[in-house]
Amino acid sequence: MSILKIILDTDPGGDDIFAFFWLQSLLRRGFAELVAVTTAAGNVSARKTFSSASQILSLGKLAQVEIGRGVAVPNPPEDAAHIHGNDGMGNLSALLPTPVHDFETARDSDEILIDRLNSMPGEITIVAIAPLTNLASAELKHPGILQKAKEIIIMGGAFHCPGNITSHAEFNLWFNPLAAEIVLNSRDDLVITSLDITQDLVFTRKMALQIYDANSESQIAQFLLKLCEFMIGTALQYRETQGIEGFLVHDAATLGYLFYPETMLWQRSSVQIETQGKWTRGQTLIDDRHSPKPPANAWIATQVNAAQFFTSLIEDLKVLVR
Ligand code: BDR
Ligand code: CA
Repeated sequence: MSILKIILDTDPGGDDIFAFFWLQSLLRRGFAELVAVTTAAGNVSARKTFSSASQILSLGKLAQVEIGRGVAVPNPPEDAAHIHGNDGMGNLSALLPTPVHDFETARDSDEILIDRLNSMPGEITIVAIAPLTNLASAELKHPGILQKAKEIIIMGGAFHCPGNITSHAEFNLWFNPLAAEIVLNSRDDLVITSLDITQDLVFTRKMALQIYDANSESQIAQFLLKLCEFMIGTALQYRETQGIEGFLVHDAATLGYLFYPETMLWQRSSVQIETQGKWTRGQTLIDDRHSPKPPANAWIATQVNAAQFFTSLIEDLKVLVR
């Protein structure tokens, strides 16, 4: 198997953190290489997501990986601290190692994307699990740069189900719809894991305990259990899981596609986004007519086998903490 070179574009976030540690397990076993982490404003501010990424990398002994600082979002809407905690980490950041990366001197995330994609054309897979501000900014500064990625996997959108931030929109694409539009227009082979499948990915405390029981001494296992408990609290409060005691690990779906593609089904689609609507900002649309329609720009996930997905996620996280 050839080694995937990955840039993780993230705004940690409870579900980002589960995805991040899943990726770390795969990195440790040589299935992928982490080229850089580009942080973005979204769940919480750019400064906080940068600092969280540094702590997560340090916990996994990956402090040498470069982190980019999130590109500013004009007129940013309200963040999602009410779901993820004021620090985006379930208010647990004080329990983790002190950040080692310096926000003041770090390169901007769009600069890192441009630099790395130019130096390794066709080799880098971008895993985008945040609002698409950094990717869009890179594309605006250097038109065509996103074409130089091997593949771009996006967690975002809601096609056949309600949104999670408004009735029509999913958080990542709602947060910066103009950025999302730029990315949707950048190539014709985007891979999108939307709420259509992530609404089925309810991670429970029992699952977190399986990881914790694999090695209760592990700082990562202890942190993931506490984070899961925090995220379950807010998920129940905001009724994200139809009353099931768990929380949705949306962002992990991107890694499910990359490393366990047999767990998902796909539909070739033409995806567009509403950027202006008074009530529909960030709504994602596909054209399901049989008649001629706009050319497709993406593959969207339509179904996930949640049992298989979670078996892979849990077993890989157990390997990480052992
Ligand atoms: C997405 O929004 C964020 O709050 C999560 O981290 C995820 O990326 C889900 O809609
Ligand atoms: Ca996220």
